[in-house]
Amino acid sequence: MTGHDVTIYEVGPRDGLQNESGVVPLDAKVEFIHRLVAAGLPVVEATSFVHPKWVPQLADAAELMERLGPDGRRHPVLVPNERGLDRALELGCEHIAIFGSATETFAQRNLNRSLDEQFAMFEPTVARARAAGLDVRAYISMCWGDPWEGAVPVDQVVDVGTRLFDLGASQLSLGDTIGVATAGAVGTLLDAFNAAGLPDDALAVHFHDTYGQALANAYAAWQHGVRTFDASAGGLGGCPYAESATGNLATEDLLWQLNGLGIRTGVNLEKLVTTSTWMATHLNKPSPSRVLQTLAG
Ligand code: HMG
Ligand code: MG
Repeated sequence: MTGHDVTIYEVGPRDGLQNESGVVPLDAKVEFIHRLVAAGLPVVEATSFVHPKWVPQLADAAELMERLGPDGRRHPVLVPNERGLDRALELGCEHIAIFGSATETFAQRNLNRSLDEQFAMFEPTVARARAAGLDVRAYISMCWGDPWEGAVPVDQVVDVGTRLFDLGASQLSLGDTIGVATAGAVGTLLDAFNAAGLPDDALAVHFHDTYGQALANAYAAWQHGVRTFDASAGGLGGCPYAESATGNLATEDLLWQLNGLGIRTGVNLEKLVTTSTWMATHLNKPSPSRVLQTLAG
């Protein structure tokens, strides 16, 4: 897809900033995205067209897309429903991502819908997006555990995930929303999706680093055959559903590992470190990324 061995799908401006307590000024968000692109990241998810009361950190989504101009249209944006799609279409967005839940409780808390009702919301959204020529990614959250329901049965994750994908997505991103997965469980879930007809090249992995397992999990997924990895610059973010949680797998940590394995990503680590160091000044907190801490010295 990108001419590299793997695709790093950068989610810092969206998943990272949506979970930071402070709201980053619009100018800084625009510069952040430009700098991530200049560092060689092939995909940079920009923002979300969700209800601003639910995610005030991204309430400036329309202004951000306007500021990014025509080049910004290729950046994926999160869209939960037709109202969000209308907003994305008005701005010329070319890639959207829907985000479903593998569990009943998180569907209620994140989408104000039951597990089954979420499909009624996504179905017309994806159908209209595809008819308009947009690419659609589907996320599924709580794949390896849920803070209210505990362990989530593999069959349930695979059932919800394949239903989301079959709506018309080009890729399904498997989210470890609260960072509880371990390497063996990563392989088990990937095997189950493969058996259900979704090969590794239709899948991405989206690890949060709450228990420090994200890098090991990414390696397990790479060994299995997955080639798209979600990560956030500097490990930005947190998780509103897990106390003391860190954010996503840090892009710098992933890149250090991939570089060591000789896997080409097209991303320049030095430029990325400079970018994350600069972004940290807007958040007034140190990055949890060990690679960033070491290289930023
Ligand atoms: P709702 O309140 O049920 O919406 O929220 P509704 O359909 O009943 O509409 C209520 C009002 O909201 C209406 O306005 C709508 O127009 C408006 P009114 O008529 O009352 O004036 N509205 C909207 N406004 C702007 N943009 C919209 C929109 N939709 C409705 N898109 C909804 C349902 C889905 C909108 C809400 O629950 C929501 O916004 N949820 C988003 C939560 C979110 O963004 N979570 C974080 C992203 S998921 C994630 O981070 C996980 C991931 O990283 C993977 C992983 O780690 O697992 C992807
Ligand atoms: Mg996430």
